[in-house]
Amino acid sequence: MSNKINIQENVSLAPLTTLKIGGNARFFVRAENEEQVIEAFKFAKRNSFELFILGGGSNILISDKGFDGLVLQIAIKGIFLENESSEKITVTAGAGEDWDKFVEFCIEKNLQGIECLSGIPGFVGGTPVQNVGAYGQEVSETIVSVRCLDRKTGEIIELSNTECKFAYRTSIFNTTDKERFIVLAVKYDLYVDGNPKIAYPDLQKSFAEKIPTLKEIRETVLAIRSEKSMVINENDLNSRSAGSFFKNPIVSTKVFQTVEEKARTLKLIEENEKLPNYPVDGENVKIPAAWLIENSGFYKGYTRGNAGLSTNHALAITNRQNATAAEILGLKNEIQNKVNQNFGIFLTPEPIFVGF
Ligand code: EPU
Repeated sequence: MSNKINIQENVSLAPLTTLKIGGNARFFVRAENEEQVIEAFKFAKRNSFELFILGGGSNILISDKGFDGLVLQIAIKGIFLENESSEKITVTAGAGEDWDKFVEFCIEKNLQGIECLSGIPGFVGGTPVQNVGAYGQEVSETIVSVRCLDRKTGEIIELSNTECKFAYRTSIFNTTDKERFIVLAVKYDLYVDGNPKIAYPDLQKSFAEKIPTLKEIRETVLAIRSEKSMVINENDLNSRSAGSFFKNPIVSTKVFQTVEEKARTLKLIEENEKLPNYPVDGENVKIPAAWLIENSGFYKGYTRGNAGLSTNHALAITNRQNATAAEILGLKNEIQNKVNQNFGIFLTPEPIFVGF
């Protein structure tokens, strides 16, 4: 395969993101194999250009002035199956494979383990970075290893699941070793004819009477996500977003009680009603950020200029019509300040901010 790279200049980044916002990349390269990734990496290094790695663009906000360096889009394709005769199959996917197409492929092969992650936009390579999760499943449950280019040493290495240090929406890729590794491929262990995972209340409701097939889980997840405009659809303006704009805060049970008390004082919940929450472990709980946002006055459909909340989910900030990155940030700040003022919780954004 050729290691020749096509370096483009002044490439508009907005169309490459699900928010459809952002200025130009000074330089842009789409790498279809590992050799091209290495070439592009060397080109940036040689010229002391800042390097940003782009996948499917579903979890980023690019600034209006764009990125003054090299944007490298990882477009490495390919799906490979190993141990095909055993119960557990190891599937390796190139970082540039479309995630949902990959999920569909695995379900068609009757492979269990990622069915609840149907309909999530973006590429395979992004999934270990923020440990993508939905409907009771996270990629950390099936990832065996992640093949990466280590920008520090210039070597290609395989990081094991343990080395990735996965937790809720985090891994070493977006915490301790941020910007160090370029994901090239991800290896998942999936189960032939395995029983689908039905851990989430919305799913449990749908399948109270029978064990669904993987296909049925996929269809149900896609339907639930579509209702919330969390499946990209050109005809649905509410889906012009980066998905959840904030992480669900994890707080100690003590902090949770304080928040619950505040909610009671503000008459947002009844005297004996519980504030929505999900247990994390014995000491911590997760509070739905969407609840905190809605109950701070940001109703579904709230707008600020051309930015606004989805009319179907309070956690998605959407580009209503030609919104600028500055407008999105304005709404983000307004939400963070108000939620903090009301509940004493400062929400952490989920998307990555590029070029600010
Ligand atoms: N809620 C509201 N208002 C809303 C929506 C939700 O108050 O407009 C409250 C309700 O109490 C509801 C609760 O929030 O019961 C949870 O809502 P939902 O089931 O929609 O899930 P979420 O916590 O908002 C998380 C993930 C999603 C994932 C779903 C399903 C995060 C930040 N988000 O959302 O992931 O699809 O659970 O598992 O953890 C993403 O990360 O981009 C994403 C879409």
